[in-house]
Amino acid sequence: MAALESSKRVGTAVVSKLYPTRSHTGAAQGGIAAALANLEDDSWENHAYDTIKGGDFLVDQTAAEVLCKEAVDCIYDLEHMGLPFDRTADGRISQRRFGGHTKPNPIYDPSATPGTEAAKPRIPVMRACHAADRTGHMILQTLYQQCIKQGVTFFDEFHMLDLVMVDGECRGIVAIEIATGQLHTFHAKSVLIATGGFGRMFKVSSNAYALTGDGPAIAYRHGIPLEDLEFYQFHPTGIYRLGILLSEACRGDGGVMFNDKGERFMEKYAPNLKDLASRDVCSRSIYQEVRAGNGIGGKDYVFLDIRAETINKYKTSPTGQAVDSAWVEKRLPDIIEFARTYLGVDPIREPMPIQPTAHYGMGGIPTDVHGRVIQDAANTPVPGLYAAGESACVSVHGANRLGTNSLVDLVVYGKRAGRAMAEYASITKFQPMPPHPELPTKTAIDGLLSRTRTEPWVRIRDEMQKTMMDDCGVYRTEETLTRARDVLIGLKERYARLGVQDKGTVFNTGLLEVLELGCLLDLAQATVGSALARKESRGAHSREDFPNRDDQNFFAHTLAYRDGDNGTREAYKPVDVIMVEKNGEMTTKYPLEIRKY
Ligand code: FUM
Repeated sequence: MAALESSKRVGTAVVSKLYPTRSHTGAAQGGIAAALANLEDDSWENHAYDTIKGGDFLVDQTAAEVLCKEAVDCIYDLEHMGLPFDRTADGRISQRRFGGHTKPNPIYDPSATPGTEAAKPRIPVMRACHAADRTGHMILQTLYQQCIKQGVTFFDEFHMLDLVMVDGECRGIVAIEIATGQLHTFHAKSVLIATGGFGRMFKVSSNAYALTGDGPAIAYRHGIPLEDLEFYQFHPTGIYRLGILLSEACRGDGGVMFNDKGERFMEKYAPNLKDLASRDVCSRSIYQEVRAGNGIGGKDYVFLDIRAETINKYKTSPTGQAVDSAWVEKRLPDIIEFARTYLGVDPIREPMPIQPTAHYGMGGIPTDVHGRVIQDAANTPVPGLYAAGESACVSVHGANRLGTNSLVDLVVYGKRAGRAMAEYASITKFQPMPPHPELPTKTAIDGLLSRTRTEPWVRIRDEMQKTMMDDCGVYRTEETLTRARDVLIGLKERYARLGVQDKGTVFNTGLLEVLELGCLLDLAQATVGSALARKESRGAHSREDFPNRDDQNFFAHTLAYRDGDNGTREAYKPVDVIMVEKNGEMTTKYPLEIRKY
């Protein structure tokens, strides 16, 4: 999206370690949020409120309002570019429900009997525009085709290994051409990082192998802080043990989670929205069930049931009307195929075993609403450097992202960042490159190729993933985080001694995987450091030793700076809050509330 927007104004190139249509946006399934109000009343204000509440009030409010307002036009832009959205009977873009997306209940009565419809202050709304359960795939294909049409230059399978920074200003990047092993320097007036997430730091993840956080790690090594890394989202419904995503659209369309006793356990934890509560709440609830011995067969998983008979029994279809298996198959074709292929389970006939899977980093490289990378609590921009998508943190997700808000984040803020970087490029002259900007990268690679192999790199990766999953996962404490910090220090020391076995230049994937592991280790350290420092529970950061949200001390964004080779230093930055006048006095537009679903 950024490249497309930028290329309308200036010559633009995309450097990508993957063939572009293999990027992870293509794995996003259930939908992209925008208050189109195609099926029922809705407004961008509803969307903004849900986003801020979903993020446990750590969301920057101006950024959230921009997101929700501009989402609507972005969806129509995508449609006009040819994105094949599903349609309503009268031809409008179809929308479905997703967790935490709500609107005020028109029959709400605070004095109504608890549990009745009238007692619910907010009710689910159909806000996620979708192309079956392949929405991200369609977005990626559409945008790629538009970029080709627009003349964007693609350097496919060029892996970025460094930024060229001179006097605090970004002047380009260094990348390795995977096919040849040759290092290339790209001289640019502005650079945007859009390298996606870093879910491979966890053992069970929905993320592809390529999601190793290269962009954030490289920025971090150049002294740029990383924002709010302690907030890492576990999607409640990953395929048991494999982590492959089973879209939240399953529950949006009426699917229900059950424990070993056949109980719809979400009724206990989120009596109003139940299975459509926010992801952090659902993932914790699954773990609570497992801890209470209610996992299936006493194990660490529960069931997700999308059978038509279940949807009908619980009256959970989006309209409350009865559905049949053909309807479920049409709405969720990929999910059904995944379950058949990877689980040997046919979800039309039986429930699917699921467990929370590491899915999305709410934090990342701090940016402002123009995609400019910022370097401190005073919001000072780094000249020439931009970021967007999951690698960035404009802080529209705060402490917990709502499903479908990542796709809308990357189109809204991708577009804004693309426009801003092009404007900057058009008023800036090329500044000289330093002599041999590739030298630090070359030295690191030569070291790895010349050292003998001390141990298989995957051993270090596996230990990191297990540590992060067990000690810095859905629940954390001072004890588990301290253990994780110490383990990571040991892993970094072993990493520094690693050599790679394949000494070749052509498609040396072993070398690249070791370099990617280095990025993950840096990000894991920053995540653990940020989590240790935040002594409260908020959104996806659940400290069992500090179970409550502490607005007095932690209503602030974390900025984690690299401190030497093995440490982090945390600073804090205020949350952006919108003030409005009410009865002659200034007050917050979105008052802090305790989240309940
Ligand atoms: O559940 C899903 O379809 C994932 C969507 C998202 O992460 O936004």
